[in-house]
Amino acid sequence: MASSKSLLNSFQAALQRREAKSSRRRLTVLPPGSVDFSSNDFLSLSTSSSFRSRFLHHVNSTPVSQPLASGGSRLLDGNSHYAEELEKFIAGFHNAPGGLLFNSGYDANVGVFSCIPQPGDVILYDELIHASIHEGMRLSRATRRLKFSHNSPSGLKEVLQKQIEDDQTIANGTRNVFIALESVYSMDGDIAPVKEFIQVVHDLLPRGNGYFIVDEAHATGVFGPRGAGVIQGLDVQKHMFIRVHTFGKALASHGAIVLCDSLTRDYLINYARSLIYTTALAFPSLASIRTAYELLQQEETESLRQNLKHLIQHFRARLKEIQPADSSILEVDHFPDSPIFSFRSPFPRDLATACQQKGFIVRAIMPPTVPAGKERVRVCLHAGNTTKEIDDFLKVVQEWAAQKKAAVPHL
Ligand SMILES: Cc1ncc(COP(=O)(O)O)c(C=O)c1O
Repeated sequence: MASSKSLLNSFQAALQRREAKSSRRRLTVLPPGSVDFSSNDFLSLSTSSSFRSRFLHHVNSTPVSQPLASGGSRLLDGNSHYAEELEKFIAGFHNAPGGLLFNSGYDANVGVFSCIPQPGDVILYDELIHASIHEGMRLSRATRRLKFSHNSPSGLKEVLQKQIEDDQTIANGTRNVFIALESVYSMDGDIAPVKEFIQVVHDLLPRGNGYFIVDEAHATGVFGPRGAGVIQGLDVQKHMFIRVHTFGKALASHGAIVLCDSLTRDYLINYARSLIYTTALAFPSLASIRTAYELLQQEETESLRQNLKHLIQHFRARLKEIQPADSSILEVDHFPDSPIFSFRSPFPRDLATACQQKGFIVRAIMPPTVPAGKERVRVCLHAGNTTKEIDDFLKVVQEWAAQKKAAVPHL
């Protein structure tokens, strides 16, 4: 008993350390009726009546012999014709040779990065890459994992050049280099210069031992033709070894697909432990994913994408008009066309609270989710937001900034 008390004491101390650094996390439930400027439901599909009715139609029109639960791992009893058909349908939509479903984007990245790079291989990753890729890399057998500056082709070039100079097996093509990118970054909303990265790798690794793995979590449904992603928007899919699309954001569902060739798919089925040792997605999840992809394919989400685009432009225009603000209090970063805005401030929690009190859901994002000094309130726009909501929200932000400036004039 004494030892369990000391364990709980160490939990308490750890939480208090986070409290002192203003980085303690808490679960919260959204108050009903608040305006969503926070979730990743970019197309507002999760509240769309056409999504709901199509989903229910899928569920209700399957024979009762179709079990609702998957009943086990994909490798045991959890597979179905429905899942295999869905993989083919999604791979076709993304112009990929094949695909393998995972239970989440987290599981997909852990599965891919933990087993694909071989001993002796190197992983080069963007410094802002998602935590799930870090988790996969931690489990991987790659000999080295090295970061390069965010979204910087010259940063990648510098790190890759050094690997080639120092390691003969990379230079002669015996060992491989994996380049890990996100196409749209979750916190800054900026888009990777994918073509420039391809050029760097093509120039420095002419033997073809450079492999891109790109996470399209935040691009899926929003960017590219019919929402197929940034990579298809640039028509560079043949240069990507693996693409990961997740369904929990704009597609209002859950799970992810790893797009790859059939041999790689087979290898993942045999070695990706986050696929092998977990119960497969249940039928309602598969039906929801199918619903979302049918809507994309039939261009039923195009008007939502147009509306989102219009709202992004409106938000940018209003920001220009009102952005008074002393940059020591508030600075807004935004990448054109992205639904994600960063309201950077030394007081992100205060700003988030002020907005929440007026009925606008936004969240303060603190280290370690973002680097120290890059704290912000992350603002996400959705197809279902309105220009009035945007105007009202920005008014609250403007008032908050003025009050803060008056309260801390020395800043
Ligand atoms: C870039 C990126 N990759 C992967 C994930 C994980 O996806 P999921 O939420 O489906 O586990 C996220 C979600 O936070 C993400 O932002």
